[in-house]
Amino acid sequence: MPIKKAKRMSKLKECSLACGLPKSTRMARMGTETAFDMLVKARKLEAQGKHIIHLEIGEPDFDTPKNIREAAKKALDQGYTHYGPAQGMPELRQVIAEKAGAFRKMKFAPEQVVVTPGGKPIMSYAIMALVDDGDEVIYVNPGYPIYESMINFMGGKPIPLPLLEENGFMPDLDYLKKKLSKKTRMLIINTPHNPCGVVFSANYLKDMAKIVEPYENLWVLTDEIYSRITYGAKFETIAKFPGMKDRTIILDGYSKIYAMTGWRAGYGIMHPDLAQEFSRVQTNISSHTTTFVQRACIEALAGSQKAPDDMVKEFHQRRDVIVDGLNSIKGFRCKKPNGAFYAYVNVRKTGYDCRDLADKLLHEAGVACLSGTCFGSYGEGYLRFSYANSIANINEAIKRIKKFIEKK
Ligand SMILES: Cc1ncc(COP(=O)(O)O)c(C=O)c1O
Repeated sequence: MPIKKAKRMSKLKECSLACGLPKSTRMARMGTETAFDMLVKARKLEAQGKHIIHLEIGEPDFDTPKNIREAAKKALDQGYTHYGPAQGMPELRQVIAEKAGAFRKMKFAPEQVVVTPGGKPIMSYAIMALVDDGDEVIYVNPGYPIYESMINFMGGKPIPLPLLEENGFMPDLDYLKKKLSKKTRMLIINTPHNPCGVVFSANYLKDMAKIVEPYENLWVLTDEIYSRITYGAKFETIAKFPGMKDRTIILDGYSKIYAMTGWRAGYGIMHPDLAQEFSRVQTNISSHTTTFVQRACIEALAGSQKAPDDMVKEFHQRRDVIVDGLNSIKGFRCKKPNGAFYAYVNVRKTGYDCRDLADKLLHEAGVACLSGTCFGSYGEGYLRFSYANSIANINEAIKRIKKFIEKK
């Protein structure tokens, strides 16, 4: 077949669905979250009768606290079932501004808050509202896969900021300096970090802010979804350092700290002018977050914090068990993370490709985890284990992995 025709055919194939009907060319630029693919594989094996320990998915195994569930039920009975403002209910935005501000030792106004269905939409809204075709976006790699997916989808140019073990999984600020230019429109960071578990210190963020500050057209998106899940390390936000307040978008939410992943509730905090743009984007996409869920979110932040605090204490214990266990396996090396609920393990010395190892652990040891490459090219050589599972299951998983590695 002539080259031209072959190219046209392959383009056509890329832009059509299995049923033969066309799809947009831009869909070829959209990535996904492969954690869900692993979950599907694991569930398939379970359906065949295999016992699987789930250490792949990033969601707390706890139930949503009772007071939050009760608030949602009450809101339904009170008729909170109608449309509301795109930006989010004023009474919820008020509570978020107060609580998120007090936690960060900053002052926020309700006009700066946009309530979203999960924290995730803040990523696409930011890129949609602020990044033009060809604009460069620097983002942490390894990192949450949606950053890279949405940069590509919206026509931005993704510039990875590597998180390397030799630097304690902190981005190298000299490297960042070299990558910043007039073409950089956005920097995306994440602390506490998924998958590495590092928490960026105040001094580090202060230095980062100093580097970024001279770039007038640069926005910073800081993903702080794990902000309250730390073990001894103090959480800090880049937003509070000189020159950062107006140009920083804070992403936070309810999924992790209140075990509310399925409720789809999160928020962004930003300059009030940008909040208006985000609201316009939201009007176009989903209108707003479910009304009675927003009422429950008021209770989550304003009510008792005992349940989330206890959950963090439990994660702390599990972290110690899983990290010690993983380090006792031949060829595994895991630095103790001080935030989020993931153990990120260097498995290069096992001699396995990390994708193969994740697959083999699932099929042969009955342990589901993720290859570091699910989080970008710099995840090569690593596995991520979520410790959102009981200590008994974690111990059993370690036993199974050890047996598998030792029989090699
Ligand atoms: C770093 C990071 N940001 C954002 C999210 C998405 O949070 P949500 O479920 O609230 O959309 C996740 C979920 O795993 C995450 O790990």
